Amino acid sequence: MLEVSGLSAGYGHGSVVQDINLQVARGEAVALLGPNGAGKSTLLGALSGTLRERTGAVRMGGIDLCGLPSHAIVAAGLVQVPEGRRMFAPMSVEDNLRLGTVRLQGGSARVAQQFDYVYQLFPRLAERRHQLAGTLSGGEQQMVAIGRALMSSPRLLLLDEPFLGLAPLVVQEIRHALDALRTTGLTMLLVEQKLDIALPFTTRAYVMVKGRIALEQPSPQLAARADLGQLYFDLAKDR
Ligand SMILES: Nc1ncnc2c1ncn2[C@@H]1O[C@H](COP(=O)(O)OP(=O)(O)OP(=O)(O)O)[C@@H](O)[C@H]1O
Ligand SMILES: [Mg+2]
Repeated sequence: MLEVSGLSAGYGHGSVVQDINLQVARGEAVALLGPNGAGKSTLLGALSGTLRERTGAVRMGGIDLCGLPSHAIVAAGLVQVPEGRRMFAPMSVEDNLRLGTVRLQGGSARVAQQFDYVYQLFPRLAERRHQLAGTLSGGEQQMVAIGRALMSSPRLLLLDEPFLGLAPLVVQEIRHALDALRTTGLTMLLVEQKLDIALPFTTRAYVMVKGRIALEQPSPQLAARADLGQLYFDLAKDR
């Protein structure tokens, strides 16, 4: 589904992420771990095209996305749920979700179908469809952010720390939704700091340290390494 090779990206003064090689197979859920500042969000931005300063190859289904603008990348099926659940606060839940359909083919029937799909996945959003997004709880806002990405019918979903700062109950609710998406065969790349969330959900994990992929391991094997802080420290030492 996704094949990244030799990808480097940054913000104008040298590369923040360097020589990234990673693959995600169709239907697979893969974790991207790493300490604060490792470059995880930068990498997602380079994949989704919100960060234009990038070199290397990002292939999806054989097409190189690297030269494409972000809207064309969305149209190709790669969609990012950004860090920090950016939404349009003065707009309703429904209007925020509708923004995700800009690149969707198939007219109003298709849009209605996507609304049904997202409201079924997040019944809370259906109840609050006319509420202004800015007045939602943090968890509900995260549901809108994920829902908006799903409205465009992605083939590959990139999730950037979707559970950050959320209470355990709502974390569970969103986890259930992501589990349901996984069972439908949706391919996902999940950036996550907590192993107990990331590893049961995924089959493989990449660990990023100082802008590079320092380790790739099957998730169950990584789960056996209890101390993530120590792992990051050991990997950073070798860099
Ligand atoms: N817009 C930007 N302009 C310049 N530098 C940036 C920008 N965004 C991030 N950086 C820098 O890039 C590096 C990697 O940041 P990034 O946000 O990708 O890390 P991260 O792994 O996502 O961290 P976190 O876990 O805290 O979200 C950091 O040194 C950061 O300061
Ligand atoms: Mg980040």
